[in-house]
Amino acid sequence: MSNIKEFNTRLLMENLENHLKQFHYGEYPVELYQPISYIMNLGGKRIRPLLTLLAYSLYKQDYKSILTPATAIEVFHNFTLMHDDIMDKAPLRRGEQTVHEKWNANTAILSGDVMLVKAYDMLLEIDPIILPSILKKFNKTAAEVCEGQQLDMTFEQLEDVSEHDYIEMIKLKTAVLLGFSLEFGALLAGASDHDAQSLYNFGVNIGIGFQLKDDLLDVYADKAKFGKQVGGDIMSNKKTFLLIKAKELANSHQKLLLSSFMKMQAVDNEKKVKEVTAIYDELNIKPLTEKKMASYFQNGFDQLSAIQVNNPAVLQQLIQLTEDLINREK
Ligand code: IPE
Ligand code: IPE
Ligand code: MG
Ligand code: MG
Ligand code: MG
Repeated sequence: MSNIKEFNTRLLMENLENHLKQFHYGEYPVELYQPISYIMNLGGKRIRPLLTLLAYSLYKQDYKSILTPATAIEVFHNFTLMHDDIMDKAPLRRGEQTVHEKWNANTAILSGDVMLVKAYDMLLEIDPIILPSILKKFNKTAAEVCEGQQLDMTFEQLEDVSEHDYIEMIKLKTAVLLGFSLEFGALLAGASDHDAQSLYNFGVNIGIGFQLKDDLLDVYADKAKFGKQVGGDIMSNKKTFLLIKAKELANSHQKLLLSSFMKMQAVDNEKKVKEVTAIYDELNIKPLTEKKMASYFQNGFDQLSAIQVNNPAVLQQLIQLTEDLINREK
């Protein structure tokens, strides 16, 4: 039986945003702390803490009591972005200059490091009885994100990466954190291990779908809405689903073109992005990727039928939020 008839997700988002805004990371030296406020205040979708708060609210009503631990996940995520942008040589993040561009790489490394520490500080608010078991799961997830990031970079240098290896890589770099965010909320609310696990599985599946969409947007987003550099993945030879499928379906001429673009040292990036995208278009890679993405989102939704929630209205909101991710433009 539902004990709350309505659930106000908009209010939850507002409360999260306000909580994020009032958080103080440190003052001196300003060169260390300013980039943290900078990246945290650039906005972003805030999906991970939203997933935590919604998963918690499936079982309990007082989500305000976990705003700080939920914020820890967003701080951790932004730390990974700050370092990821160095690795990917990305000029733009959320429509503004990346930290290593606005300051420099050393600043982005060190500010990122301290963000990881601050994330752990925030996790210390968790009930000490469950803290060790949650930290263990969080640490496993954090190490997996690094493993995924390393594979992402290793794959840049490889000529051929299989679809299977690509899915494993994005599961690590992106999906497990979405899974953890949900499991985290459920565990904080005292949900059963069974439900926490189902929510984790839901998160991992939608997380794979989420990264497939991110890879699609990297090629096909509207520049004005995306907030990141369009074509960055093509420029840096990322082995995305799009490229893997294109290589699989290409005729010999297209294959040759693709592999010569990957090998070229001094390359006109604009031309490369344009021509590789043209091959994707010829091979209908966009609908193919959308189909793959939809199948992972569906696998995710299938996991939800197995859980026993106290508040079905929240479940509807969680499903709505996830559907919005499928259709997002940034
Ligand atoms: C970007 O994450 C990195 C990926 C895992 C694709 P988001 O798309 O959640 O970025 P923000 O936080 O909304 O900017
Ligand atoms: C990054 O994947 C995933 C992380 C763990 C940071 P991407 O490199 O595709 O993320 P964006 O596109 O820069 O946001
Ligand atoms: Mg990356
Ligand atoms: Mg990147
Ligand atoms: Mg990307």
